[in-house]
Amino acid sequence: MSELSTKHLLGIKYLVKSDIELIFETANQFKEVINRPIKKVPSMRDLTVANLFFENSTRTRLSFELAEKRLSADVVNFSASSSSVSKGETLIDTVNNILAMKVDMVVMRHPKPGAAYFLSQNVDSIIVNAGDGAHEHPTQALLDAFSIKERLGSLEAKKIAIVGDILHSRVALSNILCLQKMGAEVRVCGPATLLPKHIESLGVTKSTNLLETLEWCDVANMLRVQHERQNLKFFPSIREYSQMFGIDKKTLESLSKKIIIMHPGPINRGVEISTDVADSNQSIILDQVENGVAIRMAVLYLLASKKEINFAK
Ligand code: CP
Repeated sequence: MSELSTKHLLGIKYLVKSDIELIFETANQFKEVINRPIKKVPSMRDLTVANLFFENSTRTRLSFELAEKRLSADVVNFSASSSSVSKGETLIDTVNNILAMKVDMVVMRHPKPGAAYFLSQNVDSIIVNAGDGAHEHPTQALLDAFSIKERLGSLEAKKIAIVGDILHSRVALSNILCLQKMGAEVRVCGPATLLPKHIESLGVTKSTNLLETLEWCDVANMLRVQHERQNLKFFPSIREYSQMFGIDKKTLESLSKKIIIMHPGPINRGVEISTDVADSNQSIILDQVENGVAIRMAVLYLLASKKEINFAK
C-alpha cells in the first residue's frame, strides 16, 4: 500500500495495520533525512499548515512545527490564549477564518474529546489530531510504537505495560489501540481508582501490582498523573502514589530481566519515575522525542499526498 486509507488523522481507531506500517516505513526514510547535515526536503513546499493549540504543549507543538518546516511547508501557529476565541468566536468560525487565508491542513490540540472529529465533519480541510482531551493522541501512540519496534525489531507478541493514570490518559487509549493493531499484548497497571471499570473490554489485562507487571512486560510506558483532568482525589498522596506506582533504580535492578522504560512526557521526576531511571540506558524517552519528528513528518507527508491526488481528479 502506498497511501493511507484515511483523509484525516483523527485517532488510531480509524487506522488499519497497513496504514501504521506505511507511516513507519515513511518515518524511517524521514529519520534518515533529519539526521543529515541538511535536514530539509521540499515535499510540502507549496502547502500551508496551521497548528491550533487550545491546550498547553511543549513536545507535540514543537515536534509538529519542526516536522512541517523540515518538509518545507509554510507554518502558522495559533494559541487559544492570545486569540479571539476568548471573545466568543466558535471553533468552526475560527477554523474557517484561518482556512480562508489559504491554509491546507490543520493540526489541532483541544481539551474536548471528539473535537478533531467534530472539526473534520464541519470544515473543508485535512485535520490532524494532536490530542483531544482524555480521548486520543494518535501521533504519540505512533511514535511510541515506532520507538519500541526500533528497539525490539517487531511489536508482534511483545508485552507492553502502560502504568499510571489510565483513566484520564489519551496516550493510554491510543497506545492500546496502536499496539494491539501491531500484534502486541497490553497490560494496564495503576491504582484501582485510575483504571477504567471496563478497560478489559478493549482486550487488555489489568493489574494493581506494579512489581508483578514489570516482571511480565518487555516495555513499561510510565504515564504522568493528569492532575489537570481530575476533579476528585484518586489516591491519598503523591508520596503514596510514588511508593506504589513509581519506578526507581532499585526496582529496575530487582527484576529478573532488563526492560525498556518509556514516558510520553512531561515527566514528574520522583513521582512516576526517578531521575536515575529516566536518565538510565534502559530509558528511551529521548528516542521517543526524536522519533516524534519523523513520525509527524510521515503523517503530514502521507496526508498531503492524498490531498494532491484528490486535486488531480
Ligand atoms: N507527550 C506530549 O503530548 O507532550 P506535550 O503535552 O508537551 O505536547
